[in-house]
Amino acid sequence: MNSPLRHSPAPDVLSRFAAIVGDKYAITDANDLAPHLIEGRGLYHGRTAMMLRPGSTAEVAAILKLANETRTAIVPQGGNTGLVGGQIPFDGELILSLQRLDKIREVDAQSNTMTCEAGVVLQKAQEAAAAVDRLFPLSLGSEGSCTIGGNLSSNAGGTGALAYGIARELMVGVEVVLADGRVMNLLRKLKKDNTGYDLRHLFVGAEGTLGIITAAVLKLFPRPRAIETAWLGVPSPEAAVKLLNLAQSQLAGTVTGFELMVRGIVEFALKHGHNVRDPLSSPHPWYVLMEVSSQQAEGLRDNVEEFLGNAIEQELVSDATLAANLDQANSFWHMRHTLTEVQKPEGGSIKHDVSVPVAAIPAFLAEASDAVVKLIPGSRPVPFGHLGDGNIHYNVSQPIGADKDAFLARWKDVNAVVDKIVLQHHGSISAEHGIGKLKRDSLPKVKDPVALSLMRDIKGLLDPNGILNPGKVL
Ligand code: FAD
Ligand code: MLT
Ligand code: ZN
Repeated sequence: MNSPLRHSPAPDVLSRFAAIVGDKYAITDANDLAPHLIEGRGLYHGRTAMMLRPGSTAEVAAILKLANETRTAIVPQGGNTGLVGGQIPFDGELILSLQRLDKIREVDAQSNTMTCEAGVVLQKAQEAAAAVDRLFPLSLGSEGSCTIGGNLSSNAGGTGALAYGIARELMVGVEVVLADGRVMNLLRKLKKDNTGYDLRHLFVGAEGTLGIITAAVLKLFPRPRAIETAWLGVPSPEAAVKLLNLAQSQLAGTVTGFELMVRGIVEFALKHGHNVRDPLSSPHPWYVLMEVSSQQAEGLRDNVEEFLGNAIEQELVSDATLAANLDQANSFWHMRHTLTEVQKPEGGSIKHDVSVPVAAIPAFLAEASDAVVKLIPGSRPVPFGHLGDGNIHYNVSQPIGADKDAFLARWKDVNAVVDKIVLQHHGSISAEHGIGKLKRDSLPKVKDPVALSLMRDIKGLLDPNGILNPGKVL
């Protein structure tokens, strides 16, 4: 029988791990560990005896081989921006930080690919693509600190998914270290490669439970020659859905962003955000941030202006401002990307990252708000998100003046009410953030039982000793 999994290894085992990376990169100092044990919103706290910072795939392989032999539990961590607690060692597991694997191995503009190590920060990858006149379109509010390995492991979505796809669709090849230390090299640049089972995608969205991603080949796109960014006041989510459909069918360019926000969350941003101002002169119940891109340098602005004129006539848009320059466009996106942060000063916030078919968004929003406010009178739903992907961050802030802990104690009650409505609309309780620790108990309630059983079989096959991110996902 296998010996039990060790969450807090003995000193002699710790020394063997430290010897692989060298003492400098085997972190044990409490101050150095602290930022890696808590996630940004302060929702999850963990503990560990050591964080390992390998500098190569070979070192990652040696760490996993030893972890497997000694049954030592490991939690992989990239930029620590995940929102479901997947990257936190809740029970003394060792942290395996991928941040030192930060080389961009190759940018191949002709093949439209880029080979990045797992610890490359997303923004650096975007910049490297731009330097050769290409676009790497994954875009998240956390892009200044999240990493390619974390993006793939959480199968991140973000604001560009509408036009370019989620992280899974942006990955062409991958290098993975398996739980027993073997390295699987699928770092191909090929769109077409039908040589048996396609194993690459098993590791995307696996949240570090099946293997450690050490590098990936990513897909690049031509850089748009013209981009127009509009901030729109809209009367309702119904109008926003119609507007999206109209834009996708009528505009000469491609709709590359379509974000919905309720007035309440914009008010939080205006109150608590840095350098945030209302782009419109009067308030509107809902807002859309729309971005349209074109490969034609000329003509897009006229086209978008004409489109917005029609949309106002059809009462789908109440007021509109089209960014006059890049700074203004950036200020619209800054407002959008600050929405995670500005909920904090309003007290407790109960989160949902859900998706429903796009057409069902208006009904979902209306039903969820009714049910939540009935459950906790005075609570303040502040939904926002990626309308074009049917993905809403249905977050609920506490009633003004309420006790934060008492409100947060209702987390599961509120989830139950919202998730029920999501399921009635044939949606998903985790659209883009993953399962991690946060939704682990909910997964068996929503996943097809055959699929769940296959997932457990795959986990057993790839990680028979359960060393990789135990207690997450399954
Ligand atoms: P981490 O948080 O370090 O880890 C995430 C998960 O992946 C964990 O389970 C971890 O164990 C695992 N992991 C990390 N690296 C590896 C690896 N190399 N191999 C195997 N497993 C690994 N997410 C979205 O999808 N869309 C958004 O729009 C979005 N916006 C955000 C905005 C803000 C302000 C913040 C704070 C977060 C946002 N996120 C969003 C969530 C988060 O940024 C993403 O999930 C991101 O992809 C995580 O990357 P990371 O490097 O920080 O990973
Ligand atoms: C976003 O779209 O801003 C994020 O996914 C972050 C969040 O849900 O807070
Ligand atoms: Zn999001």
